[in-house]
Amino acid sequence: MSRLVVVSNRVAVPNQQAANTGGLAVALREALQANGGVWFGWSGKIAQRTSSQPTLTEVAPVTYATVDLGRKDHSEYYNGFANRTLWPLFHYRLDLAEFPRQNYEGYLRVNSLFAEQLRPLLGDDDDIWIHDYHMIPLASELRRLGVRQRIGFFLHTPFPALEVFLALPSHERIARSLCAYDVVGFQTMNDLRAFLDYIVNESGGEVLEDGLVKAYGRTLKAQVFPIGVEAENLARTAAHALKVPAVRRFRESQRDRAFLMGVDRLDYSKGIPERFEAFQRFLERYPAWHRQVVMVQIAPGSRAEVPEYKQIREELEARAGHLNGAFADYDWTPLRYLNKGVPRETLVGFFRLSAAALVTPLRDGMNLVAKEYVCAQSPHEPGVLILSRFAGAARELDAALLVNPFDPDGVADAIARALNMSMEERVERWEAMIKPLRENSLDAWRDSFLKALRQAPYAAPSDT
Ligand code: G6P
Repeated sequence: MSRLVVVSNRVAVPNQQAANTGGLAVALREALQANGGVWFGWSGKIAQRTSSQPTLTEVAPVTYATVDLGRKDHSEYYNGFANRTLWPLFHYRLDLAEFPRQNYEGYLRVNSLFAEQLRPLLGDDDDIWIHDYHMIPLASELRRLGVRQRIGFFLHTPFPALEVFLALPSHERIARSLCAYDVVGFQTMNDLRAFLDYIVNESGGEVLEDGLVKAYGRTLKAQVFPIGVEAENLARTAAHALKVPAVRRFRESQRDRAFLMGVDRLDYSKGIPERFEAFQRFLERYPAWHRQVVMVQIAPGSRAEVPEYKQIREELEARAGHLNGAFADYDWTPLRYLNKGVPRETLVGFFRLSAAALVTPLRDGMNLVAKEYVCAQSPHEPGVLILSRFAGAARELDAALLVNPFDPDGVADAIARALNMSMEERVERWEAMIKPLRENSLDAWRDSFLKALRQAPYAAPSDT
């Protein structure tokens, strides 16, 4: 059996990092656990200088190979091009995207360095699977070093519509780098369509049958692989979660109040200020619910050195303060805002206890919280999922209460509707959502991607 080599910027080495709430790290950890393999990427550490070779940590069945980044590399590659250029652009935030050429050069330099350090770890039969926007140029760099096996890429974020992508000064090089892979996977049809739009209208390439794409002298497969979750496992954990002391304590503190959950990495793409506004609108317009409902927002910090993330953190603190200032009473705090992560088991228990979840990103590749929320519910008494139509998950979870996160009144109405929903309707909606989640598990996602990779047309490496 061939070995799986996973590459992603963020690597969850057991016992070395605080719980990383990013959906990608959780999903890859679970995808690798089954058959083992290698996981290569950044160590999460900033060092005096970038490591000259990766540190190997064996935690069977996975070998973790991680590289420390020097300050300049970290700043240009990670804070800079990945998180101030590609991330906002791919989430339709052209207003926040910056394009200094120096960051772009840093991005290429770190990708080339990763390729050099990964190369000696590769075996001839390995399945090489590279993840996310930090690593787009990696395949072309590996090809340059003579790597001949098939290489797959999966984009966890959205791929933006043509006119937005064209704002990227290096769009041509980025698109060409994507075409150096043998399989390029996207979360939704929307993302795939946007990519094909570029291929047809900008690169002079063509789209053939069966999702094959011919561009920049290569033939590759472009396909949708919506990422899944470990549905059964989450359901089991949730069924026992009420035994977790933190969950019990939380339940006691709630008394009989219904509560609404929000769980997000602290990121402007997640629509948290808009959600607070919607909750405020709800409290203004539905006073009968005062004292009867509490919203709990868990938002662990992220990318703290990037100015936009500092701003959003301050904005949320101010908004939470204003909201509670306006509505709280001596025995009722309507909004509980936690700027820290919560262990997974506890989180799943909170999901199980809640009346509804608000998953209202302005734009999201998939959003695994939405899927995990559904899996954690009791089949007889499920909570309601209020879901942004701009999350990739809305494609499969169209039985959720779909909302437009830019419309606070609409979201406020959805909150009222969720809180008043009959048990019959809740169960009906939940059953419609859990079905695709059980079918498209995380294992199924990994297997279908790797199958496509093994079947991809073999194209001789070129120096794209
Ligand atoms: C998103 C991205 C991931 C990233 C995660 C956490 O899910 O798609 O690639 O790892 O956010 O962000 P961070 O910058 O902390 O790795």
